[in-house]
Amino acid sequence: MSDRWTPDRWRSRPARQLPDYPDEAALNSVEARLRRYPPLVFAGEARRLKEHLAKASRGQAFVLQGGDCAESFAEFHADNIRDTFRVLLQMAVVLSFGATCPVVKIGRLAGQFAKPRSDNTETRDGVTMPAYRGDIVNGIEFDPAVRTPDPERMIQAYNQSAATLNLLRAFASGGYADLHEVHRWNLASVDGTLGERYRKLADQLDDALRFMGAVGLTGDTIPQLRETEFFTSHEALLLRYEQALTRVDSLTGDWYDCSAHFLWIGDRTRQLDGAHVDFLSGVGNPIGMKVGPTTDPDELIRVIEALNPSNEPGRLTLISRMGAEKCADLLPPLLRRVKSEGRVVTWICDPMHGNTHKTANGFKTRDFQRVISEVRTNFGCHFNEGTVAGGVHFEMTGQDVTECVGGAQHIDEAHLGDRYHTHCDPRLNAAQALELAFLIAEHLKAKR
Ligand code: PEP
Ligand code: CO
Repeated sequence: MSDRWTPDRWRSRPARQLPDYPDEAALNSVEARLRRYPPLVFAGEARRLKEHLAKASRGQAFVLQGGDCAESFAEFHADNIRDTFRVLLQMAVVLSFGATCPVVKIGRLAGQFAKPRSDNTETRDGVTMPAYRGDIVNGIEFDPAVRTPDPERMIQAYNQSAATLNLLRAFASGGYADLHEVHRWNLASVDGTLGERYRKLADQLDDALRFMGAVGLTGDTIPQLRETEFFTSHEALLLRYEQALTRVDSLTGDWYDCSAHFLWIGDRTRQLDGAHVDFLSGVGNPIGMKVGPTTDPDELIRVIEALNPSNEPGRLTLISRMGAEKCADLLPPLLRRVKSEGRVVTWICDPMHGNTHKTANGFKTRDFQRVISEVRTNFGCHFNEGTVAGGVHFEMTGQDVTECVGGAQHIDEAHLGDRYHTHCDPRLNAAQALELAFLIAEHLKAKR
């Protein structure tokens, strides 16, 4: 690629998974408006996250990236944001206190709207219309008017992201995330043995904080005790939106995609010569790429070179999502190859997207056992290869949903319909997410 990178260069590359907007004038108007809107994050924050991710690549921190598969306009509510945030806080406390490892917290929040789809269209009872591509593109309702891509939805997604981020920033630094509140983060749905286990850990943390307070170490002297750093992320799929929010950082003169701190390329759009790789190759943010079962080692090295030519630590996170059964065969050759080429990446594990199946009663679900199994296998592969398991990426919600089977509540297929609310993939509920955190903490502790 000899021509210089610009935020719109992706438009000359083959692009998958992008919607066709019927009204070009409306589309241009929305893009022009978005270009004038304030950035949602600052370049300096993105650079800070990059430093944290560099630490995770060396095993000096652990990445916790989680949130909705797809945020939706209908479920936009302060309580939902708060509950997802508090489960992430609980998980982080389990990991940082339970396994004495700093945790880098990244939400799939405040911008996770666009979804890649296996088919461009959906047919029901002989009627075919465009597939649902996330609320930023069209509506989920099976109605031709609602399914037609509408650019105005980008404005609504921007506004919702801005409001969500504002609340997250308030939660993170306004007192809610104060470690002294650790008991209050637990949700009523997390009860029984798991709830008891969390309460015990919170009691220990309380004792430690009381001791620290007695020797003069309080939230007044140590800000990390009363506030937390929280970053946002989403799949950089809808490139028109991402381009409109890409700005020059006045400090460095570099381009940053200011729609979120961290952006990733999905498993369906990671082609070396494709629009999505081209777009993210030019922004200064820390970025990620999903690495699924069809990843070829040679191709992976070429994409790594395109995305991180200077081999900058923290710049590139590879999010492997092989599936519980395939992981042991498919991941090690990639780990070996990346290591032997001397490429610095942060490897994290997405145990969700390779473990989706459809039940006989028609629900898309994931078995909690397979989710855990992929995490275990993934960590084992890293151990064997002498590489670093730097974190996890998962889909979860603070709501007490019934979307994934298994876990301490023993959700079975017959009960998936009770509270199945997701707009896209099935998410771990609060209890399942916390259970996963305890399992990971045990693993991390065993390694130290
Ligand atoms: C996702 O993270 O929601 C997703 C679509 O993942 P993948 O690209 O790995 O399939
Ligand atoms: Co998903």
